[in-house]
Amino acid sequence: MPTGREKVVLLSGDGIGPEVALEARLVLEELVPEVIIDEQLIGAAAIRATGSPLPQETIDACRSAVAVLKGPVGDPEFDAADVRPEQGLLALRAALDTYANLRPAVLGDVDVLIVRELVGGLYFGASGVRDDGTVFDTCEYHPRQVERIVRRAFRLADSRRGLLTSVDKANVLETSRMWRRVVDEVAPEYPGVRVEHMLVDNAAMQLATTPQQFDVIVTENMFGDILSDLAAAVTGGLGMAPSASLSDGGPGLFEPVHGSAPDIAGRGIANPVAMLRSTVLLLEHGLACPESAVALSEALKAAIESSPTQDLGGTATTAEFGAAVREQLAVDGALTSP
Ligand code: IPM
Ligand code: MG
Repeated sequence: MPTGREKVVLLSGDGIGPEVALEARLVLEELVPEVIIDEQLIGAAAIRATGSPLPQETIDACRSAVAVLKGPVGDPEFDAADVRPEQGLLALRAALDTYANLRPAVLGDVDVLIVRELVGGLYFGASGVRDDGTVFDTCEYHPRQVERIVRRAFRLADSRRGLLTSVDKANVLETSRMWRRVVDEVAPEYPGVRVEHMLVDNAAMQLATTPQQFDVIVTENMFGDILSDLAAAVTGGLGMAPSASLSDGGPGLFEPVHGSAPDIAGRGIANPVAMLRSTVLLLEHGLACPESAVALSEALKAAIESSPTQDLGGTATTAEFGAAVREQLAVDGALTSP
């Protein structure tokens, strides 16, 4: 339970970010009024205000928080710029060493947890332009980086249905062959977990056609980015998919899987479910408030039924959806009395 001194940093981000972040703030203020919410800048908003996509003040605030709740970043205005909003996000993930990105995808009889390595691989390897004009990005992993994410995934699989699918491209890539070796080396420590290896192209097809077969999927950064959008698509769409990025002991980073959706930004129609489900994960993993996490999760289910947003076939605005969630929390008696 929060003691009253805990601080959560809220990074609204870009595009629809401020709209969905506001709903998360209102819910947190109701559910855990004792927690301090410290708003800081990231992404395009930060570049406009300070010239940097991740100002030092934001890094310092995040390091001293119990958890960070973040909206999406990205803005087409900076598509051709040298300093891009997304660099702020990658730098923040690296600064907090949130290497374990948990992306649950749940709907009906589908219950998949994608465990994506978040601070290595193609996103962080050497890149540049050679003298002859060739442009390159490189995929690099140290076995230690693989071991820690794989161990995390084994523990998660052990606490769930006991099936771990490790996804790679071992028929082509050196990094994938090492990844597979590490998985096989760690496996005997978890006798309760059945391990299978799957090539990433096949995994994409299996996720699209029979997602019920999966329990926990563990994979490297880029494959995880792509497969988690696919998993979101088969379990209700990107508007619904949350994520938790965890380190070993430091503050976690909680953020929706979706992007900043500049096409609908500023219209008040964005679906805040992914952001609010990320808030559920924050309550559970960041603030150790399991009761509030369950209450918010149940209130979200009710609001999805009673006040769906446009992408869910309804007419509710972002604010109307948020109000429905808070009303449901009040009905369920989950709100703390003053
Ligand atoms: C995600 C996003 C980010 C990523 C972008 C915005 C850099 O797509 O969190 O999945 O690729 O990790
Ligand atoms: Mg992505």
